[in-house]
Amino acid sequence: MRDLLEDLKPGGQEWRTAEAIDPARLPAHIAIIMDGNGRWARMRGLPRVAGHKAGIEPVRVAVETCARLGIESLTLYAFSVENWKRPRAEVETLWRLLRIYLKLEMPRLMRHNIRLGAIGRVESLPPEARRELALVIDQTAGNKGMRLNLAINYGGRAEIVDAVNRAIAAARSDGTLDQLQFTEQSVSAHLYTAGQPDPDLLIRTSGEMRISNFLLWQIAYAELYVTETLWPDFKRLDLLNAVLEYQKRDRRFGGLTKAASEEEENVAETIGVPSA
Ligand code: IPE
Ligand code: IPE
Ligand code: MG
Repeated sequence: MRDLLEDLKPGGQEWRTAEAIDPARLPAHIAIIMDGNGRWARMRGLPRVAGHKAGIEPVRVAVETCARLGIESLTLYAFSVENWKRPRAEVETLWRLLRIYLKLEMPRLMRHNIRLGAIGRVESLPPEARRELALVIDQTAGNKGMRLNLAINYGGRAEIVDAVNRAIAAARSDGTLDQLQFTEQSVSAHLYTAGQPDPDLLIRTSGEMRISNFLLWQIAYAELYVTETLWPDFKRLDLLNAVLEYQKRDRRFGGLTKAASEEEENVAETIGVPSA
């Protein structure tokens, strides 16, 4: 955090926003639905894939900013299981861009001590993309800083189905299938994100008010932050603003704030609700 502040222009807007962030209450896990690439390009009279290309730089900025803030996990939605419905040429360009990103980013991931992981059915990716991904995952495996999860060929429902099937397969091979029972913990432990905290903050760009099959299980109590900004225009300041806004939220998890709780003690009788 301090290291990030040192890089910003003192008194500037980014610096003021970063300074207002409380380093003790950072979201442990930030998830981002990077949306709006196509619209960004169409607004400029460019093909949609130009928007995907322009979306690489904001990925780099978001990754670097989160790492320097001290975020534990960052999950980026890069390709959904539903995105195969798009024209073949667009999908192929996305795989090409993924490989370019991974190649370019590798040294920076090492420099920031970031460990890359992939969540989703990556076995269905084209072989070259899969190879490049496996290479970077392997090379960054020993890094102890931020976890960067790329959600690729990812679907929230598919993830839950895969988790259940994995649990069944494990129980079958242990000979414990008869006793198999699920708890929230055991389902979580079989998800792609096992061992990582649930996202505290979910950001979506381009103004769409939907989840689009992202991290359905894990975002049960995430704070949602939707910005009209299209992904290729997403800057460091946008990320800092999202974190600052997150810190203003009152997270109750179904309970009440401490003050409200105390106020409510023993009031039932005063409004004529008899004790049982
Ligand atoms: C998000 O941008 C990137 C991917 C889904 C791969 P879109 O391509 O969905 O852009 P819009 O939403 O059509 O503008
Ligand atoms: C969600 O965006 C998937 C990614 C950002 C990778 P989409 O553009 O695919 O979602 P919808 O179609 O608007 O719901
Ligand atoms: Mg979209």
